Amino acid sequence: MDLSTPWLGLRLKNPLIVGASPMVDDLGTVRRLEDAGAAAIVLHSLFEEQILREQLASLHVESHYESSAEALSYFPQADDLRLGPEEYLELIQRVKAAVAVPVVASLNGTTEGGWLHYARLLEEAGADALELNVYALATDPWDSGEAIEQRTLAMVRAVREAVGVPVAVKLSPFYTSLAHFARQLDQEGADGLVLFNRFYQPDLDVEELDVQRTLRLSDASELPLRLRWLAILSGRVEASLLASGGIHGALDVLKALMAGAHAVQMVSALLKRGPEYLGLVRDDMTRWMAEHGYESVESLCGTLSLAHCPDPAAYERANYAQILQSWRTPAGW
Ligand SMILES: Cc1cc2nc3c(=O)[nH]c(=O)nc-3n(C[C@H](O)[C@H](O)[C@H](O)COP(=O)(O)O)c2cc1C
Repeated sequence: MDLSTPWLGLRLKNPLIVGASPMVDDLGTVRRLEDAGAAAIVLHSLFEEQILREQLASLHVESHYESSAEALSYFPQADDLRLGPEEYLELIQRVKAAVAVPVVASLNGTTEGGWLHYARLLEEAGADALELNVYALATDPWDSGEAIEQRTLAMVRAVREAVGVPVAVKLSPFYTSLAHFARQLDQEGADGLVLFNRFYQPDLDVEELDVQRTLRLSDASELPLRLRWLAILSGRVEASLLASGGIHGALDVLKALMAGAHAVQMVSALLKRGPEYLGLVRDDMTRWMAEHGYESVESLCGTLSLAHCPDPAAYERANYAQILQSWRTPAGW
């Protein structure tokens, strides 16, 4: 069985990637993930805020004491963030030394600016590829979708210009015309699109009158949103398509590949079940493929994309009316 798959212009031994998460902080876990069959490992992110904080801190020592002290207070406290930029570079080196599979560094931010030059340092520290996470919530009523997209494109351009290694962009699903934006990212030279970021939804504490930060791990119900957009984009962009969100078992991987993903990223399932679970998923997937007569991952990639599936309307609006109107209230109401 040939499990190999194209990925960011390179080739992976199989389509199972460990997505950005704190699992990389423990080298024992990193080795267990590789032993279980992980084809690549994405580090958790280095955040724009971390880099800016460090840059402002050095200004603070050098000159504009008052203004930078005030500016510093806008950023998260160092203790709130996992690692400083220097430690992050060391983390890349440690993970690279621990495993043979490609290691992907992740930059996470929303503005175009000097912090993006850190991309080159990540490459110099040994990252085989970069993932640019453009997680942002557009809360300013005067900030248009067009302006936000242009900023993201400028960020991608800056990172593309700074490094020679492949660059993937991790997106949210919340764009007015995701297909158009994906094509623009493609033209900007993004080597991969990761669909999708998860938005961590704050909850309300009605007793304490407070907003609670919560981090809930995913389940497979989050997958269909990814499947739909993988299917829509499959074959229409040069960039590799990566599924992230709701991949919990072999069938989820197979669905993502059939929709058009070249590879999938897993986080929540591994956090719940441990690194060795990845090996079970790979074995289940291989068994299913053999039983159904598939000889390679490439032969099933995109078989249920919008262009190839027997019922394209299922991905589009046509089915919306049909599905709503087919609902029947349970008998006896
Ligand atoms: C504890 C935790 C930490 C994460 N840290 C990052 C991060 O630093 N950068 C990032 O891009 N995504 C991060 N993610 C998001 C995951 O990479 C992934 O996109 C998301 O969890 C959806 O995949 P899943 O359904 O397999 O969990 C994190 C997720 C979890 C659960």
